[in-house]
Amino acid sequence: AAPGSKKPLTLAFESILGSKTDAVVVPEGYKAQVLIPWGERLNSSVVEWSEGLEMTPEIQANSLGMNHDGMYHFPLNPGSESREFLLAINHEYIEQSALWAPQGGPTNARSGNRPADEVRTEINAHGVAVVHVKKQEDGTWSTVLDSRYNRRYTNATEMELAGPVAGSDYAKTRFSPDGRLARGTTNNCGNGYTPWGTYLACEENWPGYFVRNSDRQLDDDRLGVSTGRGRYGWETAAGDPSEQDDEFARFDTTPYAADATGDYRNEARAYGYQVEIDPYTGRRAVKRTAMGRFRHEGCWPGKLEPGKPVVFYSGHDARNEYIYKYVSRAAWSPADANRPGANIDRLAIGAKYLDDGILHVARFDEDGRGEWLPLTPDAITRDGRRLHEALGLAADDQAGIIIHTCDAADLMGGTPMDRPEWGAVDPTSGDVYMTMTNNTQRTAEGTAPTYTNGGSDVDELGVGFRTAPVNGPNPRESNRAGQVIRWREGADGVHFDWEVFVFGAAASDTDNLSGLTELNQFASPDGLWFDDRGNGDGILWIQTDNGYSNVTSYTNDQVLAVVPAALERGDGDTAVVNASNQQQLKRFAVGPNGCEVTGIFATPDKTALFINIQHPGNWPAAVDASRETEGSVRPRAATVVIQREDGGPIAV
Ligand code: FEO
Ligand code: CA
Ligand code: CA
Ligand code: CA
Repeated sequence: AAPGSKKPLTLAFESILGSKTDAVVVPEGYKAQVLIPWGERLNSSVVEWSEGLEMTPEIQANSLGMNHDGMYHFPLNPGSESREFLLAINHEYIEQSALWAPQGGPTNARSGNRPADEVRTEINAHGVAVVHVKKQEDGTWSTVLDSRYNRRYTNATEMELAGPVAGSDYAKTRFSPDGRLARGTTNNCGNGYTPWGTYLACEENWPGYFVRNSDRQLDDDRLGVSTGRGRYGWETAAGDPSEQDDEFARFDTTPYAADATGDYRNEARAYGYQVEIDPYTGRRAVKRTAMGRFRHEGCWPGKLEPGKPVVFYSGHDARNEYIYKYVSRAAWSPADANRPGANIDRLAIGAKYLDDGILHVARFDEDGRGEWLPLTPDAITRDGRRLHEALGLAADDQAGIIIHTCDAADLMGGTPMDRPEWGAVDPTSGDVYMTMTNNTQRTAEGTAPTYTNGGSDVDELGVGFRTAPVNGPNPRESNRAGQVIRWREGADGVHFDWEVFVFGAAASDTDNLSGLTELNQFASPDGLWFDDRGNGDGILWIQTDNGYSNVTSYTNDQVLAVVPAALERGDGDTAVVNASNQQQLKRFAVGPNGCEVTGIFATPDKTALFINIQHPGNWPAAVDASRETEGSVRPRAATVVIQREDGGPIAV
């Protein structure tokens, strides 16, 4: 059809009602299959998972980790991309009650020393899995046990540091005196991927795993490194300080003067990055420090154009934190695109684009415009100083800027957001969508902030927002339901136009700004994926991680789909999905009790939609066809594959 005359894409399924059961509910004509739950083994060197299995470090290191989150697919052979691929999956964190169910729970969870083997097991339940999956003749999916590609990365796997922080004094540790190695990755949440065929595992809530009880540094406070006891008390497994070794003592970064074996003061500075993994070869993973150091939710490549820089968007998921854009110095060369099956040094290509570039923070203005502000030593802060001077750094200290990314963003005047979670990019228009999940510490204009987390609103530099007044893209105080925003880059790559795409709400809310109904009410948008269907058409998929009772009283977390209307440039709108599209914001799937729904993509032929069910309460249960729960089970996060019963494309 000629441009402008083609029929808009239509969602050809009926929006489903909310659900509060121990099952994944999908529309009529669709089926959902559970695949690769926590504890499924990758190779036959360890025993098969069973309800009563007592997990060990060795079994866990050779099996799927816990709490699946972001994921992506990597084809093995041209022509079979939709039937066989490597699936890289983030294992964000752990459910100790499920992990230690046969033993009645974890030992010394809150006080006293944790047993070493329990901590080793928990360390191995975090990180990333690469698993070979295949579609069978009968249309079901399965894993390839003992595939040479199956692999785990854990919170103990040795990794490289690259980019400005690598080799700097900030990164020198007892483990890595030259500051070029790190141990492990953790809290890998939403994911990323690159055009050259690598996976990005993004480090989100890592600060809580480290403890620092004295001599705290600016970034320890800004990012929230623990005092007292770490999230799971791993540092306590080190036992007697005179016998401390790297394995567990590294989680306590306090510079103890009496420590006979040296200290671990810089350990946490090897965390907070984008971690690049080559799923095809299993070469040592690389932490790409040029892309900033914060609580990275995920990472999404922008529209790819030959001869132009490669762009990645990411968000810092914390209240009143920022959205960032990384712009490579190297121009994109299509010769660097992934070739499945080819023997390519993908991490060398990664170094070309991801180790040398400029990180920017977003400022959203009230008029629907915005600007990307560079985080470089010479950048001019909002109060007219050089950024390196304002941070107290040397003139050439880009490593220091990266270590203090959030303070640098404060000083430049970034716009504090309602907890940025996932992004998604329309590959045709380049429009970028991002979920702002909710923000309990968003105040009304002119209201004095209240400090629900204690302490002060500013850090020692006099900047930083633990509370912030409402602003254009974050217009609701005490925002419980969240919103999805979108923006379009201007020709200069520096300015952009933005609008709110849709506001979450319960249908009965007075601030139901997008007119949602029982059939599409949602809150706390988190996962997001732009599903390109060709000819400039696409479906935006939205997943929720819900804490808002007006919606949770009606339904568990869910997957919605919408066909976006074009973004009108510079129209100054603060809203909203237009009327014709709003009819098309439809609920496609609902998860089991207690879960969040995350991690989403479809096979290239669009016949299988992969999602992850994280922290379910009692699932995968023995669920019969009527979707009723039978008894209680040891819950396991898992991937779910949704397909049409007739094998056709999803949603259309
Ligand atoms: Fe791990 Fe921001 O979700
Ligand atoms: Ca998330
Ligand atoms: Ca979330
Ligand atoms: Ca989560």
